[in-house]
Amino acid sequence: MPQRPSPLTQIPADIVCAEDYERWAERNMSSAVFAHLSEGSVADTTLRANRRAFERHAIYNRILVAGDHGSTELMLCGQRFRHPFLLAPVAHQGLFHADAELASAQAANALEAGLVLSTLSSTRLEEVAAQTQAPRWFQLYFQASKNATLSLVRRAEAAGYGAIVVTLDVPVHGVRRSSQRLGFTLPAHLNAVNLKDIDDGPTRAISRDDSTVFQGYMADAPTWEDLAWLLKSTTLPVLVKGVTHPDDALRLQSLGVAGIIVSTHGGRALDGGMASLDALPAIRQAVGPDLTLLLDSGVRSGTDVFKAIALGANAVMIGRPYIYALATAGALGVAHLLRILRDELEITMAQAGCLHINDIGPHTLFSPSHLC
Ligand code: FNR
Repeated sequence: MPQRPSPLTQIPADIVCAEDYERWAERNMSSAVFAHLSEGSVADTTLRANRRAFERHAIYNRILVAGDHGSTELMLCGQRFRHPFLLAPVAHQGLFHADAELASAQAANALEAGLVLSTLSSTRLEEVAAQTQAPRWFQLYFQASKNATLSLVRRAEAAGYGAIVVTLDVPVHGVRRSSQRLGFTLPAHLNAVNLKDIDDGPTRAISRDDSTVFQGYMADAPTWEDLAWLLKSTTLPVLVKGVTHPDDALRLQSLGVAGIIVSTHGGRALDGGMASLDALPAIRQAVGPDLTLLLDSGVRSGTDVFKAIALGANAVMIGRPYIYALATAGALGVAHLLRILRDELEITMAQAGCLHINDIGPHTLFSPSHLC
């Protein structure tokens, strides 16, 4: 097997944007791991739709705006963020770099970026929390028993996580064709360490003979009652990740969630669904101006961040791009990527005449109807 290059300790001059990191990362990992990271589900239709949606929107430039007091700061769920993007939860980061989530957290700390840690991290949630003073939230997957779910929540509370992000768009694992073809499997040493000591009680064994998906996986999928129980079980703000339908958003709002993350899981859950960005305006309209809304899936640049905010998000999460940076150059790479995104957003805001995040809105986007 050809030797793959080690992660870089200096950033090459030809890495100037998120896409450049994808190109470099491909050289640093096996084709099976790269497929696992980059693919969507089934035919990648939603994966592609997520990118195309950003290209359909255009930003007005504005002139003669004095901008020396501009800033990208904002508050989310009562916490101060230096800029409106967070690192999304990405499982098993030990696949991509030996320092795994510790490197991502160190970069988040250096650039004052928010971080959302996956339940399925390669590093214990307590160790990751200790690496960053910036806001960190814990992403929760419901476990088979309430006791197991609650023990994760209590550990996240004790470790100083400022919110729980519960992911609900994968009641069933998506079909992943590319990595399946290449025989991707998780190496035995990369187990989900947060779940190691959890006594989950008996779980249903799912065999190939279970006659349908519904009697198999769906029998264990979380319900509205489980979410209501979670909301009562913690004093932390709870955000729900993986929402695209305004009716679901409204019901979540009436249950009392602190925020909603409009997401298609980066095109890895339902294939044939709409882009996250296309789902966003109707959700903002449904829940009104005050509920915290984040968006992820397909964000690759500062102009993408701007467009998502203009269409109703308070902030966005970045997934694969920081993992490409992690695989390329560890913490240094992730910090560099965050810096690139911050600079791109500030430049876009300056050119669009927006000095603060609150200045960005639907009026900053060109709509052909303005011509009439
Ligand atoms: C993810 N995502 C994810 N989401 C989540 O809630 N918990 C998790 O453990 C994971 N794990 C995970 C692994 C890998 C390899 C990928 C690519 C994604 C989804 C992630 O949080 C986010 O929604 C998407 O990655 C956002 O889309 P982009 O930025 O990758 O296009």
